Amino acid sequence: MKVIERTGGRMIYTITLNPALDRTLWVRRIHYDDTNRIEREERYAGGKGTDVSRVLTILGVDNKALGFVGGFAGEELEGRLFNDGISCDFIRISGETRTNIILNLLNTGTQTVFSAKGPEIKPYELMQLIHKVERLEDPEMVVISGSLPPGVHPVIYRKLIEILKAEGAWVMLDTDGDALRVGIRGIPDAIKPNIHELSRLLERELKGVDEIIHAARTVCDRGIRTVLVSMGARGIIMVGEGEQYWAYPPRVKVENTIGAGDSAVAGFVYGLAEGMSNKEALVYAVAAGTATTLRPGTAVCTREDIMKLVPKIEVRVIEKGEEGEYDKD
Ligand SMILES: Nc1ncnc2c1ncn2[C@@H]1O[C@H](COP(=O)(O)OP(=O)(O)OP(=O)(O)O)[C@@H](O)[C@H]1O
Ligand SMILES: [Mg+2]
Repeated sequence: MKVIERTGGRMIYTITLNPALDRTLWVRRIHYDDTNRIEREERYAGGKGTDVSRVLTILGVDNKALGFVGGFAGEELEGRLFNDGISCDFIRISGETRTNIILNLLNTGTQTVFSAKGPEIKPYELMQLIHKVERLEDPEMVVISGSLPPGVHPVIYRKLIEILKAEGAWVMLDTDGDALRVGIRGIPDAIKPNIHELSRLLERELKGVDEIIHAARTVCDRGIRTVLVSMGARGIIMVGEGEQYWAYPPRVKVENTIGAGDSAVAGFVYGLAEGMSNKEALVYAVAAGTATTLRPGTAVCTREDIMKLVPKIEVRVIEKGEEGEYDKD
């Protein structure tokens, strides 16, 4: 497979402040107040930014995952990432990396996620990350993804973005709630909220295409050049400087949608790393997102599935004032 080396030492990074080890259990049924037998158990390296790193690696884009890891779970997480060929350079913390429990109940076919809060990050540990980011040599593109560990103020995202932009990097932020609201004050180059995240950011429900575009334009007016709004099976609406497109995937048999957004971010970064325009990179974003829905497992996809989907992604220009047929079902 072709590996896209960055020229002149320029590097692509992802940053995950609160990665997790995902422990997936399969149980036939739950007997409350009793002992339950675990039929099967798997452990995966989780985390939004590390998911992006995984898909970039699958696409042959050289990149490095940054963030915090600690304790035995942190060692396991990092070891698993290395075994998947993902290059990491984490800050080691005194706390223990969180472990999420994903419970698959075989009798109901349901999947229930118990998401752990994550360890406390000490102020000196936070500063170690800031100093590492300040010392990055020629960062080309950086993706900052996911939730914040407890106690870390959202202003950290703004700070990291400001440092990276001063270093000449292109920065993408993919997060939710206050982390997104405060983070965008650092003016990232791109964000990828899903509709719910964009609705929360603007504190209003978004119903039609026109409302989504108007909302994304409001965000662009704050200086963010590209806003990608992901809409599950309906693909992505991208609003940027003087352009607005809607790219949508073919109908597929969906196995799992968790991590599809992270893959979409990776697809977009891959496109830009290959020198494509935003419009062309958008196609790879949708293809990578949809390729992820074809396979069980979080942010698991293959390069082959992505490339097969690329010619099937339809992109159209959205004219100003268009009443779209986007609807919720
Ligand atoms: N049901 C689906 N069918 C086809 N493609 C899908 C489906 N769900 C997601 N996708 C693809 O993945 C992309 C991103 O998905 P989505 O909007 O669900 O992201 P998200 O909510 O950020 O997900 P996450 O945060 O779990 O990674 C979509 O734009 C689309 O290309
Ligand atoms: Mg998402």
